[in-house]
Amino acid sequence: MTQSIQQIQMLGELQTWQMTHLSDTIDQALTQAALPSPLDDACRYAMSNGGKRVRPLLVLATFLTVSAHTSRPITTAQMAWVLRAMAAVEMIHGYSLVHDDLPCMDDDELRRGKPTCHVVYGEGVALLAGDALQSIAFEVLAGSSDEPSDISLKLLQTLVPRARRMVTGQMLDIEGEQKTLNQDELEAIHRDKTGALIEASVMMGGICAHADDTMMQKLGQYARSVGLAFQVQDDVLDVTADTATLGKPAGSDEKLEKSTYVKLLGVDGARRYADQLFDDAEQAVASFGDDNLLSQIVQWLQVRAF
Ligand code: IPE
Ligand code: IPE
Ligand code: MG
Ligand code: MG
Ligand code: MG
Repeated sequence: MTQSIQQIQMLGELQTWQMTHLSDTIDQALTQAALPSPLDDACRYAMSNGGKRVRPLLVLATFLTVSAHTSRPITTAQMAWVLRAMAAVEMIHGYSLVHDDLPCMDDDELRRGKPTCHVVYGEGVALLAGDALQSIAFEVLAGSSDEPSDISLKLLQTLVPRARRMVTGQMLDIEGEQKTLNQDELEAIHRDKTGALIEASVMMGGICAHADDTMMQKLGQYARSVGLAFQVQDDVLDVTADTATLGKPAGSDEKLEKSTYVKLLGVDGARRYADQLFDDAEQAVASFGDDNLLSQIVQWLQVRAF
């Protein structure tokens, strides 16, 4: 496993690799948690119904980019922590979406082309599924008492406060409904509700690869630009894409009079802003080599249709 992963240089191959390995890790974590029915089914439903899996991809791509740059061989133990970090951030993201779709939040009935978790299992189960996914994510990173704790602690110290920032962002997002916010206020919401988990993903990849302070700084800059650009794009897609393509209800933001970048800058202005942020992101990681995996992710995200 470790040899083949080290040789991957193209994003498509990385996504193929991730498809199997990430699902296995998440499945194992859920099996170990042995949740009662229907909670177990609801968690699996929330985690197995597709999605772009951008955040775990960022963990893995950052890890490989830094490892290639420092010419350090990749160990099996390191790879195991990378996979745990990938699974953990995707589970936090999965939980955030289950809660985000609830009637008391965005009240959406479609996610990734399927009925949302609460539509299938009911609101109580969906609420608990989100709670359970959050706990399991942290259990995965906490490891067991006979494992080295330094890496575990660093990963937890990275993910936990950013999972909390996601919640802060969601709170501000609700408070921002039916209001006209200025750019600074809107940026603060987006950086927390979406940027924080993207930042956690990149930083955890860097931690697993033992990136030094200078590298971590560049990775942080990259992550902050990608994180904001990603939510600006999400705002744009809400008004420009159709429900079938998005796999979630188009026009959801307008329905709730959300504060979005489209409302602030218009569709073209928001698109230009996202492009500028993506350019900043690519520049931040240029020193890791031409066409590195992190810049390939930017190019892929820049043209995403959903
Ligand atoms: C949707 O995230 C919610 C945001 C934070 C913008 P994604 O666009 O990553 O959703 P999936 O996981 O691919 O479905
Ligand atoms: C959600 O933002 C961000 C989260 C923390 C889940 P949105 O509400 O815009 O996400 P979508 O459009 O429903 O995926
Ligand atoms: Mg929302
Ligand atoms: Mg939503
Ligand atoms: Mg949205």
